Amino acid sequence: MNKKLDPVLSFSEQEEYINLVSEIIKNKYSRPPLAMVVPYGCQQNVSDCERFKGILAKIGFAFTENADEADLMLYKTCAVREHAEDRVFGNIGALKHYKRRNPELIIGLCGCMVQQEAVAERFKKSYPYVDLLFGTHVEHRLPEFLYRLYTKKGRVFETDDAEHEIVENIPIKRDGTFKGWLPIMQGCNNFCTYCIVPYARGREHSRSYKEILKEAREMISAGFKDITLLGQNVNSYYSPEKADDKSEINFPKLLRMINDLDGDFRIRFMTSHPKDCSEELLYAMSECSKVSKHLHLPFQSGNDRVLKAMNRRYTREKYLNLISLARKLMPDISLTSDIIVGFPGETYEEFCDTLSLVKEVQFSALFTFIYSKRKGTPAAEMEDPFTREEKGKWFRELLAVQDQISKQNDVKMSNKTYRLLCDDYGRADGFMAGHTDGNVCLEFKGDTSLLGEFVTVETYIENNSLKAKIKE
Ligand code: 5AD
Ligand code: SF4
Repeated sequence: MNKKLDPVLSFSEQEEYINLVSEIIKNKYSRPPLAMVVPYGCQQNVSDCERFKGILAKIGFAFTENADEADLMLYKTCAVREHAEDRVFGNIGALKHYKRRNPELIIGLCGCMVQQEAVAERFKKSYPYVDLLFGTHVEHRLPEFLYRLYTKKGRVFETDDAEHEIVENIPIKRDGTFKGWLPIMQGCNNFCTYCIVPYARGREHSRSYKEILKEAREMISAGFKDITLLGQNVNSYYSPEKADDKSEINFPKLLRMINDLDGDFRIRFMTSHPKDCSEELLYAMSECSKVSKHLHLPFQSGNDRVLKAMNRRYTREKYLNLISLARKLMPDISLTSDIIVGFPGETYEEFCDTLSLVKEVQFSALFTFIYSKRKGTPAAEMEDPFTREEKGKWFRELLAVQDQISKQNDVKMSNKTYRLLCDDYGRADGFMAGHTDGNVCLEFKGDTSLLGEFVTVETYIENNSLKAKIKE
């Protein structure tokens, strides 16, 4: 259950600041000022940035990706691994000279790094040219922070960790026109021992199913054809508002409700936790024609002792049972996963259980990570006897195994017909790219008029790789 929350916050409290900042920038700049909004890390961050852009557009900002011309830079940081943090520290370090050239430039940082006290302190002390720092629980207050920056001299820091329900009615400016994100919940209650997310993003909060359906309808009528429902742990979605018939709405029910909306579109979702991946969900997936037959189900490790030490709360056997039910219900399902190599104390023999699980399941793609120590998590206190070099060797072994599997997957996928959503340009001139229902990317000969359209292709193998051509 959620701990006691602040009263539900309303974005309407920010409307006044939007108007005030709007007036200020009209007087200050002879043209709409340019904002550069940069997400690091996960899709949730990308989606959050679409809301920042919605707010900034409402205030009167225009947008740029060119740092040289920006009047406002806003970085949404990621803390999930050390590598992600190092990139942010490096890139923020490089902003100093932009500020020197343009002292009026506003540099803002937010996101998971800022929510950690020690990191926020480091930004405050060692990066004096960062004007604005705000944590993950106060992001909807961006207009108020800008007002404070424009009206008072000095920097603005706000890293209040008081939790609250999801703030609704935040304006949104989506990056895409046919593929988009739809956040359904945020936060995480799982406390996997290696993971910083529950500390950085707080506990789970689900949006009301009514708000989600409203946003889905808006996206569909705006022409979106591929909608990804987002959350750290979508399987534990639980609408705070009951259905009109007073029944509770969990994730499988939500999927069915979105599936029932009119229109030709696909529904995807991520990320799922195996412990909350119910049979009910797999049945809902198999019975909903618009739900993509793709399941991203991170197993992290194939060894039960390591899973326990990670506090994952499922066993290898339970995971494999879920996979076999998913395959029984949806024979063509595409499965992907996240894996951590070198969790503290993991031995080579234990890592071999991860390898054998990978060989057994035959995933269509893997997201593999070497364990990264996160200060403040229980795993950071565990004995970690194996060197980075050793873990690197295991990691490469895993990649080689998956490489073989990917080649076999290509053969399995050849000489078949797929419906793709054409969503990108191909690597060569005259080629376009699209994703299958199972989220596999294929390139085919075609022109740019196909962008955003569904096309049917046939696959074949040429020079050892999977190719596709439009079916006449
Ligand atoms: N080290 C390495 N990988 C991690 N992940 C989360 N925390 C860590 C960590 N400390 C990985 C997990 C998760 C994915 C989003 O990032 O595999 O599923
Ligand atoms: Fe991190 Fe585990 Fe929550 Fe995923 S489920 S965000 S890995 S704590």
